[in-house]
Parts: sequence; structure tokens; C-alpha cells
Amino acid sequence: MNYNKKTVKDIDVTGKKVLLRCDFNVPQDKTTGAITDDKRIRAALPTIQYLLDQGAAVIACSHLGKPEPSFDKWVKKQTEKGKDPASLTKEKWEKSLKALTLAPVAKRLSELLGKDVVMAADVVGPDAQAKAAALKSGEIMLLENTRFEKGETKNDPELAKAMAGMAEVYVSDAFGAVHRAHASTAGVAAYLPAVSGFLIEKELEIMGGALANPKRPLVAILGGSKVSSKIGVINNLLDIADTIIIGGGMAYTFAKAQGGSVGKSLLEADWLDYCNEMLAKAKEKGVKFLLPVDNYCAAEFSADATPVLYDAMSIPDDMMGMDIGPKTVEAYVAAVKDAGTVIWNGPMGVFEFPAFAEGTRAVAKALAATDAITIIGGGDSAAAVAQLGFADKMTHISTGGGASLEFLEGKELPGVACLLDK
Ligand code: 3PG
Repeated sequence: MNYNKKTVKDIDVTGKKVLLRCDFNVPQDKTTGAITDDKRIRAALPTIQYLLDQGAAVIACSHLGKPEPSFDKWVKKQTEKGKDPASLTKEKWEKSLKALTLAPVAKRLSELLGKDVVMAADVVGPDAQAKAAALKSGEIMLLENTRFEKGETKNDPELAKAMAGMAEVYVSDAFGAVHRAHASTAGVAAYLPAVSGFLIEKELEIMGGALANPKRPLVAILGGSKVSSKIGVINNLLDIADTIIIGGGMAYTFAKAQGGSVGKSLLEADWLDYCNEMLAKAKEKGVKFLLPVDNYCAAEFSADATPVLYDAMSIPDDMMGMDIGPKTVEAYVAAVKDAGTVIWNGPMGVFEFPAFAEGTRAVAKALAATDAITIIGGGDSAAAVAQLGFADKMTHISTGGGASLEFLEGKELPGVACLLDK
């Protein structure tokens, strides 16, 4: 896939209406709705500021969460989740949508920019249209949650056309959503000149560079709970990396595949053959494939459980693996120390529980100390690095969760493919 895409610097935006897709899908407090982490809003600021400085009128848009814009489908989904259909009223559905308004994002964005952000009541409805038409050079507005429109996730051309109709240029800076072929992330590009913002440019440059032309040795650390969610990543990285390190829940499926006993640990029995195939591929390609040799285990999945250390291949029947052990940490830290580039996606254990965060902390610390280029795939690993206090020691922390994973899989990203080539 070609990542060499035109950016805002390659197009004249002066005096133009610019539709800017951001990823403002930020975490919020469940009861108060307050934004608990504004990193994604901050990450969009350089592009927004540049556009405003150039005299563009910025019509920003984003999705937030997974609202269900059809009442009937909402009822169906809630019923499937076990809710009593009689309790599923239109008022409750409307409340579920209101909870996902982008109004708190407009407020935060306004504070960060130090200027008014006009909030539209809809996406392409009369309010958005009127406000977009009245928007002047140097001003910014925010459309409502794009997923309030039924056509958004279906990439409906009518919706894309209506969004594009409000602007003259499309800029995408929503790296976290580039793996989605939706109306606002990809569809609109069919109707407007489409370029990337600085965030997408940076993400593609750093992550693309690490995959295409890495400073070697390239070490990939892959954790997280499921092998099934990392299949494509392991497979693709086996063609590129010098060393692959496995941690987290998925390591137990590898241990079982090699004849180990994993007790009550997370296990994906359908993926045992796949694990063996990957180990064979690593051997054939000469890629070092490091698996845990010891694990801290617990009798139950609880923050209060007492950690007990076992050999990774002989976890007793009544125990489950919760973290990597000290011998494993030693081997992983040594591999990171000699690396030229490290890509990390997924925690090494249940880092949310302090008693089982040591493995993830040790790896984060090793990354913070190495001279290697360190790239953190978003989602849980980004959260872990931030929670453990090492965020400012990394070369790059991706703003994309699913997007960075699909990037590491080598998949085509629709939100990037739709942009103009340089
Ligand atoms: C994310 O949070 O990873 C992006 O905003 C994409 O969100 P989605 O998984 O709901 O499409």
C-alpha cells in the first residue's frame, strides 16, 4: 500500500471550507460524561491550528462510541444482551444517543484552542448546513457524532455527498479510524480533493518507516489476551521482524500448543495448530521467537489474588497465568536492550491489577531505557505505558488502537487509501 499521501501542505486551503475528519472518540466518565483523557483532541490541534492560521473555515467531524441510529436495531441489540423488550422505550434510546453527543468535545476543543467552537445539532441536517454556510475564514465548527447518521458505518454515498457538499477540501487526521471504510472516513474523498493532516502523516511516517526500513534488529513485542486477534499481526511481522516476543494471555495458547499444561489460563483451543504453524514459520525464516519460560499465576482472576510463580509449561490445574515471571522478564529485557527498533502492542499480563503489572512495567521500563526507536501501538499498551509513567520516554505512541493493529498486519487502510497520492 502507498503511504506517500498529499498533506495539508500540498493543497491551498486559504479561504476554503475544509471538512476535517478527526478521531475524537475519547473515553468519558460513565456517570458524569466528563472526558477522562483528551489525548486524541490534543493530537488533532497542530492540523486544526494550521488550517485556521491559513485562513480556512474548519468543519470538524468525528464519531464517538457506537451509537445505534435505528430504534428497531437498538431494541434488537438490547434484547440480545438480555434486556426486557418491554422496558426498551423510545425515550431510553434517545437518551443512549444523547449520551454520545460531541458537545463535551467541542467544549474541550474550545478550551484548548482558546477560541469558540460552534457546535452543530446534527451531521448534515439543517442546523449543520446553516452553520457551515455561515462559517467564516479562521472559524471552526464541530458536526454532531457522525454515527448518529444511519449511512455513516455503511459508507452511504448519499451521506458522503451531503457531508462533502458543505466543504471544498477534505482533510483526514483521524488515524484511529482509518481502518474504517465509513462515509466520513473514506466515502467523502470521492467528492472532494482529499489530503491528510499532520497526525496521519506522522503516524504513517513513523510506523510505516519502522516496517519498511527498520533500524535493526527489529523486535516486536506482542501481548494481549487473544491469539485470534493478533493472527494477522504475528504472520505479517514474521516476514519483517528479527525477534518476536510473546506475552499476555495469548502466550498460554502457545504453551499448550507445545505440549505444556496451562491450568485455568486463558486458552483458545481452536488456535493451537496456528501457534505451531507460526513457530514453524519463525524457524524457517530465522526469526527469534521468545515465549514466556515462567509465569506468575493465581487461583482466581482477582486483584487480591496472591501471585505464585510456576514454570510456563507446568501451570497446575487450579491456577491461571496472570503475568510473565522474572526469568522471562530477564530474557525480554535483554532482547529489547540490543534492539534498533521496538514495536510493542499488548500488555504482558493483567497490568490493571498491581500485583500482576510487574512484567508489563519491566518491559515498559526497558523500552524507556533503550536507545532503540520505540513505537507503542495504541489501545491497551498505550494505556499501560501512560499508567506506568513511561509515556514521555517513547519515540511514538500511536493514537490508533484497531487502526495501528491493522497497520501492523499490513492491511490496506481505507481512510488512507482514499487520499491523494503525492
Ligand atoms: C478507536 O477508538 O479505536 C477508534 O476511534 C475507532 O473506533 P471504532 O472501533 O468504534 O470504529
